[in-house]
Amino acid sequence: MKAVIILAAGKGERLNLGYNKLLYEIEGQPIYQKTIEAFKGYKIYFVSNDIFPENVIQIKGGKTRGESVLNALMEVKEDEVLIHDGARPYISKEIIDKCTGEAFYVGVKPKDTIRRGKETFNRDELILAQTPQGGKTSLFREAYLKAKKDNLEFTDDISVVLNYFDVDVKLIEGEYRNIKITTKEDLNDYLIGQSWDVHRLVENRKLILGGINIPYEKGLLGHSDADVLYHSVAEAILGALALGDLGHLFPDNDPQYKDLDSSIIVRKAACLMKEKGYHINNIDSLIFAEKPKMAPYIEQMRKNIALLLEVDFSRVSVKATTYEKLGEIGEGKAIASQSIVMLKR
Ligand code: CTP
Ligand code: MG
Repeated sequence: MKAVIILAAGKGERLNLGYNKLLYEIEGQPIYQKTIEAFKGYKIYFVSNDIFPENVIQIKGGKTRGESVLNALMEVKEDEVLIHDGARPYISKEIIDKCTGEAFYVGVKPKDTIRRGKETFNRDELILAQTPQGGKTSLFREAYLKAKKDNLEFTDDISVVLNYFDVDVKLIEGEYRNIKITTKEDLNDYLIGQSWDVHRLVENRKLILGGINIPYEKGLLGHSDADVLYHSVAEAILGALALGDLGHLFPDNDPQYKDLDSSIIVRKAACLMKEKGYHINNIDSLIFAEKPKMAPYIEQMRKNIALLLEVDFSRVSVKATTYEKLGEIGEGKAIASQSIVMLKR
């Protein structure tokens, strides 16, 4: 059986979540679990002091990455070993399958130009080193022991070996998506939410849509100001966060919400979104109304929503459509609104 060391004993200080970043969930799974699954069929030496997965050989973490690697190398029984950052969950099976030899590492060419002072490097000669790295277990163990004796720290494994031994190192061309999750920008986490709301049109009520008091002979009936557009926007956000519906948050039998300005509802949803660490990527809303004409108000509605959600105006879309005189909406007895929102971590 092939062996891999998976490193998971860091603190994740640059990501600054307040806990080991490998516990953070992407695509519904903790990062460390996703990494483990990539190495199906391998004997896994798992280095961590606070994560204890099933079916692995648990190794104590060290104060530095190098110390963690050495702790594991001292336990590896197999002749050849892969060393992989637990924080690289996007590693593919195709790349892993190529990882074999005396000394190898996975890397990609930089896409940006790299300069040091006035010197510009030839991009074609440069490599961004990723993991897995590895090769002969005894070679890596010896190199790491020497580094420990010399009190030297390295940021990857091949540099430790090259510092002590003159070996041929094989470069395995990797994939750009095999990033090491290090800072917030590396968390590509999106949530989608949607909502549909409808209110009856009646006499002696103001018509308020997207925060605008629209002159019309009727208005929308509701416990609050009945702004269907604002309601669908707020509820779509709640939906993305799986926080239930609007009635759950603002019960319509609660007297304190009587005639409530619905901008407060939108702001509350925005607050919850922020608390969970998300912001609006974009939102697309639709108003279904036979009358009155919405066109003169659309731009201001977009501005109002953008302001409440603290997002650029260009990321907020509001559209309106009639119902071709069909059904209650088409007969002018009701107005409805639908919103779809995408949140980004
Ligand atoms: N690692 C480890 N032992 C350490 C330090 C790091 O096993 N003492 C592991 C991390 O868990 C990670 C990998 O080495 O999977 C790469 O390190 P890095 O991305 O630097 O992770 P952290 O050290 O956790 O993050 P930071 O440097 O931001 O604190
Ligand atoms: Mg680190």
